[in-house]
Amino acid sequence: MRRVERDRLRPMPTVTRVLALEPVPTLADYVAGGGGRGLEVATRTGPDAVLEVVTASGLGGRGGAGFPAGRKWSTVRSLNSPVYPSAVVVNAAEGEPGSFKDRSILRANPYHVLEGALIAARTVGADRLIIGLKHTFTPEIERVRRALDEVRDAGWAEGIALSYFEGPSEYLYGEETALLETIDGRYPFPRIAPPYRRGVEEVLESPSDVTANSASAAHVEMAAPGGESFAPPTLASNVETLANVPAILTEGADWFRSVGTDESPGTIVCTITGRTQRHGVAEFPMGTPLREVVETIGIGPEDGHRFTALLSGVSNPILPAELLDTPMSHEAMHALATGLGTGGFIVFDDRDDLVAVAAGVSRFLAVESCGQCTPCKQDGLALSRLLTQVSRSDATDDDLEAMDRLLDTVTNSARCNLAYQQHDVVDSILELFLDRFQDHVTEAAPALEPEPIVPILDIVDGRAVLDVHQTSKQPDWTFDAEFSGQSPADRLDDHRAHETL
Ligand SMILES: Cc1cc2nc3c(=O)[nH]c(=O)nc-3n(C[C@H](O)[C@H](O)[C@H](O)COP(=O)(O)O)c2cc1C
Ligand code: SF4
Repeated sequence: MRRVERDRLRPMPTVTRVLALEPVPTLADYVAGGGGRGLEVATRTGPDAVLEVVTASGLGGRGGAGFPAGRKWSTVRSLNSPVYPSAVVVNAAEGEPGSFKDRSILRANPYHVLEGALIAARTVGADRLIIGLKHTFTPEIERVRRALDEVRDAGWAEGIALSYFEGPSEYLYGEETALLETIDGRYPFPRIAPPYRRGVEEVLESPSDVTANSASAAHVEMAAPGGESFAPPTLASNVETLANVPAILTEGADWFRSVGTDESPGTIVCTITGRTQRHGVAEFPMGTPLREVVETIGIGPEDGHRFTALLSGVSNPILPAELLDTPMSHEAMHALATGLGTGGFIVFDDRDDLVAVAAGVSRFLAVESCGQCTPCKQDGLALSRLLTQVSRSDATDDDLEAMDRLLDTVTNSARCNLAYQQHDVVDSILELFLDRFQDHVTEAAPALEPEPIVPILDIVDGRAVLDVHQTSKQPDWTFDAEFSGQSPADRLDDHRAHETL
């Protein structure tokens, strides 16, 4: 049977709590379908009751780490500045290779994301709400811009300034402290300690703020427990996390927990790409076996092939295909020493050489590293070069040993998770497919270029359109013919953000 016919026979109905099957065209349609009631409940019951129900629901962040939303909201509320109001930032930067769920949610229904964000803003005492998108996300920007106008006109945002921000395409822009840096007008370089941080603008009046004009994240004062700062905290949260909030308010915590597992309640919106018959995005109860997710969206392996492994983006250790029956929950993934991430799975089959995949992941992360931490950039680049040599069957046993040493140092003094991702993905592939690495060293395996591991631009007719242009990006974040040898943190330190990104 041809693939197109099979696609027709196998639709993707799963659950539809946050990913609408049909786009919701206007705010009026959203309200006609019950939208807006969550905000009404929040306004009527007040911040303490909202915090109670969000905490009781067990909603975990859907931006990758699964951090409990109730705890994050309570922390931000408890750190309110006596001088400056807080802000809420919706993280719509989605740049994880293999993930297209936030853009799918925004395209289908931006209204419940905005409603959830407004509930968050009222709860933590914020007077600003900013949606952080990438400047390349043209359809989502248009959808969000119109939805913001509608929400404003409907009077939902009284006392809260609504805006959106078109950020750069750098992967790090999605890291929440880098997102706030960028909104503040600096480069997407991570700060030190989430989630306690000052607001999205420099607090120039703060007495200790002596380096407010610096382009570097290293010089930014943070809001911290202890009360010695005027700096307000900012609540940054992922699109999907916030999209879950309105229904939690209207239906209650028990309803939310009626699907999913005890430790990972609710649903998750998953993306499947790679060697499956179909690529796409769909929502599933947490705890659904990974195989069901892959087969529902992806239908199955292409004819005559078998799956070998899966990567959850570039953030977690690789999962061999023998573990496809693992339930999709944070606890089950942690038990296998990996992670759920954003639920964006790249599937590999027997045609893929996992050495070339490791080289592709390592290259992506080394290029996207900002270089504020020297080992992350330098050791990451060295690792990526060695992996490319191994993939090209142009390496020795000494090179494999050098890779081991670099894996030991790449995370030294790392300020953000990117360095750990470099370690975790490469180390896991090396461990699982060591024989293949050795085949490349003995030249028993054919020479291969690194696999392009890059973000998704769109999914059209069941196939992902990949950002292959990313493979010509230099580690200094230019697209010049030659690498300047400078890290982005060194190259951009003297300039204000967005001049060259
Ligand atoms: C390198 C890097 C890139 C990230 N990119 C994104 C992203 O594109 N979108 C996102 O929501 N979170 C991203 N995150 C996670 C955020 O830092 C943060 O944990 C998340 O936005 C918190 O929202 P949540 O609590 O709702 O999950 C990234 C993290 C890292 C380390
Ligand atoms: S760990 Fe890497 S990406 Fe993160 S701040 Fe340090 S150099 Fe930049």
